[in-house]
Amino acid sequence: VALGNFKVDNELANHGPSELREVGQSFNKMSIAIDNLISNQHNLLSSISHELKTPLTRLQLSTALVRHQTGDIEPVKRIEKEIQRMDKMISELLLISRQQMHSQMEHNLFPINQLWDDVIKDALFEAEQRKITCDVNISILHPEKHMIYGNLSLLTSAIENIIRNALKYTKDRIFLTIDLHKNEQDDNCLQIRVDDNGLGLPPEEFDKIFKPFYRVDETRTRATGGTGLGLTIVYNVVNEHNGKVWAESSNLGGLAVTIQLPLWKQH
Ligand SMILES: Nc1ncnc2c1ncn2[C@@H]1O[C@H](COP(=O)(O)OP(=O)(O)O)[C@@H](O)[C@H]1O
Ligand SMILES: [Mg+2]
Repeated sequence: VALGNFKVDNELANHGPSELREVGQSFNKMSIAIDNLISNQHNLLSSISHELKTPLTRLQLSTALVRHQTGDIEPVKRIEKEIQRMDKMISELLLISRQQMHSQMEHNLFPINQLWDDVIKDALFEAEQRKITCDVNISILHPEKHMIYGNLSLLTSAIENIIRNALKYTKDRIFLTIDLHKNEQDDNCLQIRVDDNGLGLPPEEFDKIFKPFYRVDETRTRATGGTGLGLTIVYNVVNEHNGKVWAESSNLGGLAVTIQLPLWKQH
């Protein structure tokens, strides 16, 4: 239950002395109640996000009409920009609520290099365009021999997300480290870490940046565009895979964000 598994356990209600069975029954009732509460929350979140799309689309259309009459004036451009932001937030909210219904998540077994092959290519390309030095250090001998059981596309987008943040908030350099580590439970884990030499963050922000809509210093980040949902999505995806993600200071002077994912264990 503590890990978010609210399945009813019939053993609890049917075994042992009658006092314990009674407790077991109550416990199961409680689990069902919590489970319903949470699914209602998710449904609410996804219907709200969905409903917001309609007026936003109309707003977009009318703004286009206004622009037609007034030409490319500054306030209209502002309105369009804010509409785009809102549109992005809603899309990301929808994604989050969809992710939270974990039962719908498709899982597969895949070799870990599939997680980064394309992502790194894209990152190198973007870095080059923007004159950012991007070093990559992969110290895993045969990555194709290590497997992860999970949702490849969600995990890939999580990794892409932290790399894109680094590219967005860095000055001119990012550093990508991929290796294997043991986690606290002594399981073998894949670790993907992105360092940058941007402004970094004060330690009290390290946890907060994973909260929904949280953006450090709105005036500073507003120019870079974004919704503050990227890292929330990363956090959810990584958690779903029993992994961890955290931020800390980087030796390069900016921020370092690490994603840790348990490897698939052969039995
Ligand atoms: N590499 C980084 N360096 C400095 N700040 C960062 C970095 N990555 C994330 N942040 C901070 O965390 C906030 C939340 O990140 P995120 O959820 O990806 O939202 P977004 O990128 O859309 O603003 C960002 O607005 C930024 O303030
Ligand atoms: Mg982001």
